[in-house]
Amino acid sequence: MAITIRQATIEDLEGMQNANLTNLPENYTMKYYLYHLLSWPQASFVATTTDPELSHQDKPSIHYVKQDMQYTGRGEKIVGYVLGKMDDDPDAEDKTPHGHVTSLSVMRTYRRMGLADKLMRQCLYSLCETYQAKYVSLHVRKSNRAALHLYRDTLKFEVLSIEKSYYQDKEDAYYMKKDLVLSELVPSSFQGGIEDNLEDDLLESILEEGVDKLN
Ligand SMILES: CC(C)(COP(=O)(O)OP(=O)(O)OC[C@H]1O[C@@H](n2cnc3c(N)ncnc32)[C@H](O)[C@@H]1OP(=O)(O)O)[C@@H](O)C(=O)NCCC(=O)NCCS
Repeated sequence: MAITIRQATIEDLEGMQNANLTNLPENYTMKYYLYHLLSWPQASFVATTTDPELSHQDKPSIHYVKQDMQYTGRGEKIVGYVLGKMDDDPDAEDKTPHGHVTSLSVMRTYRRMGLADKLMRQCLYSLCETYQAKYVSLHVRKSNRAALHLYRDTLKFEVLSIEKSYYQDKEDAYYMKKDLVLSELVPSSFQGGIEDNLEDDLLESILEEGVDKLN
C-alpha cells in the first residue's frame, strides 16, 4: 500500500474535513479550511492512498467514490492531513513572523506508520522556507499522549505554558513552540533520501569508466 504525502489542494478539502470530524472534537467550517489553502497554499499537506480494489476499475467506481467524503475526485483516499498557517493576528504582541499548526490527524488504520511525523515535518519546512516563519506554535490537550509524544519527543517542541480550560469541554492545553532552522528541516534529512552530490558522482564515474568514456 503506497502512501503519498503532498501539498493539499482545494479538491482535498472534503477529505480533510472528513478526517478531522472522524478524529477530533475541534472542528472547523469549510470556509476556515478554504481560508488556510487560499492564504497559505504551501502550508497544508495530505497523506493519500488508493484502494487496490478501486485502482483497476474505471469511471463508474470513481463516480461511486465521489459519494464518499474520504475520496477526492481522482479516487485518492485522504488518510491524514496537517492544516498549517502563518499567524495573521494584527493585534498580536509578537511581530516575529511565525506559523501555527491549526490541526493534524491521521485515520486510525494508518496510525503508527510515521505519517503524522512526515506531515508535520513537511509543514514546518514549508512554513520556514516559503513563509519565513521563525518559529511555529500549537495547542495540544493535556491528555493527548500520542500527540504529546509526537510534538515533544519526536519533533522537539517545548512546552511554553499551560492554558487553563482552553478547550470547549474545559480541558487544559499545552501551548507548545518550536524554533525553525531551515537547514535542520530539509526534507531529505528525514525522508531517508540521499542528497545529490555531483562532484562525488562524477568522480565515481571516472574511477569506474575512465576519463575517455566521459568525453
Ligand atoms: C496524534 C496522531 C496525529 C499521531 O499520528 P501517527 O501517524 O500515528 O503518528 P506517527 O506514526 O508519525 O508517530 C510519531 C511518534 O509518536 C508516537 N506515537 C504515535 N501514537 C502514539 C500513541 N498512541 N502513544 C504514544 N506514542 C505514540 C510514535 O511512536 C512516534 O514516536 P517515535 O518518533 O518515538 O517513534 C494520531 O494519533 C491522531 O490522528 N490522533 C487523533 C487526532 C489528534 O489527536 N491530533 C492531534 C491534535 S493536537
